Amino acid sequence: MTDSAAAPSAQARRPIALVTGPTSGLGASFARVLAERGHDLILVARNEERLRTLAKELADIYGATSEVIVADLATELGRDATAARLAQGVDVLVNNAGFLTDGEFWDTDLELLRDQLAVNVTAVLELTHAALPAMRAAGRGTVVNVASVSGLFTGPASTYSASKSWVVKFSEGLAHKLAADGIHMVALCPGFMDTEFHPRGGQDVSGVPKALWLDTDDVARTGLDDAANGRFVSIPGRRYKLFTTLDRIKPRRLVWRA
Ligand SMILES: NC(=O)c1ccc[n+]([C@@H]2O[C@H](COP(=O)([O-])OP(=O)(O)OC[C@H]3O[C@@H](n4cnc5c(N)ncnc54)[C@H](OP(=O)(O)O)[C@@H]3O)[C@@H](O)[C@H]2O)c1
Repeated sequence: MTDSAAAPSAQARRPIALVTGPTSGLGASFARVLAERGHDLILVARNEERLRTLAKELADIYGATSEVIVADLATELGRDATAARLAQGVDVLVNNAGFLTDGEFWDTDLELLRDQLAVNVTAVLELTHAALPAMRAAGRGTVVNVASVSGLFTGPASTYSASKSWVVKFSEGLAHKLAADGIHMVALCPGFMDTEFHPRGGQDVSGVPKALWLDTDDVARTGLDDAANGRFVSIPGRRYKLFTTLDRIKPRRLVWRA
C-alpha cells in the first residue's frame, strides 16, 4: 500500500455526536441512528445505568465508542460540564432532552417550571453557544434542536409549547446565518411519539388516534436528513406537515375557539 493510499484511512476518524437525553425515546433513537451512520457518541443524561447500558449496546452493535456525561441539565453544574466537552469540538449536537408538565400554569410548582425552562430552553441556548465556535472554525457541523409541533401551533398553549416555540425561533433565526459557515442547524418538530414523555408528564394520551403516532427512529432520521438537506425547520410525517400548514392559514378569530 502506498503512503498516499494509506493517508485517508490513517487520518480518518469517526465523527463525534453529542446527544442529550438518550436514555429513552427519541434521544435513544438519535444515538442508535448516529452510531449506525458511523459516529462515536457523547451521551448526556441523569440516569447513569441507562447511559452505560446504551454505550455498551452502541459498541456491541455498531462498533461505536461512547463517552458518558452524567448531568442534570436543569442545573448550571450539569450544563457547564456538558458545555466544557462541547467546547473541545464535536461534529453533531442533538439538543434532545426535554420534558412536559401537566396542569394549569398557576397550579404547577414553580421549581418544576423553572427546571422545565432550564432543560427545554437554557440548555439549548448554552450548549449551542458552547458548540458553535469549534464548528465555525472547522467550517462544518450539524445542530439538531428538538422542538415540537406544539411550538408551531397558535392558540391555547402551555409553558411546554412556549419553550418549544422558543426553540423553533432560536434555531430558524440562527440557521440561515450558520449555513454560510457550512453549519446545518434545524428545529425538529415532531408530533406524538410513544416514549416515556407523556407518562413522565402525567398526560393521558390514550385517546390519540393511532395514525398520529410517529416512530422515533423515523423522526431521528428525518431530522438528520433535513438538516443535511439545508432545511431550517423539520416536520416529520405528512399529516403534521398538513396540520401545521392549515394552522398558518387559519383565520385568527378561530384560533381561540378551543
Ligand atoms: N414524545 C412526544 O410525543 C414528543 C413530541 C414532540 C416533541 N418531543 C420532544 O422530544 C424530546 C425527547 O422526548 P421523548 O419523547 O424521547 O421523552 P422521554 O422518553 O421522556 O426522554 C426524555 C429524555 O430527556 C432526558 N432528560 C429529561 N430531563 C433531563 C434533565 N434534567 N437533565 C438531563 N436529561 C434530562 C431523559 O433522561 P434522564 O431521565 O436519564 O435524565 C430522557 O433521556 C423532548 O425534547 C420532547 O420535548 C416529544
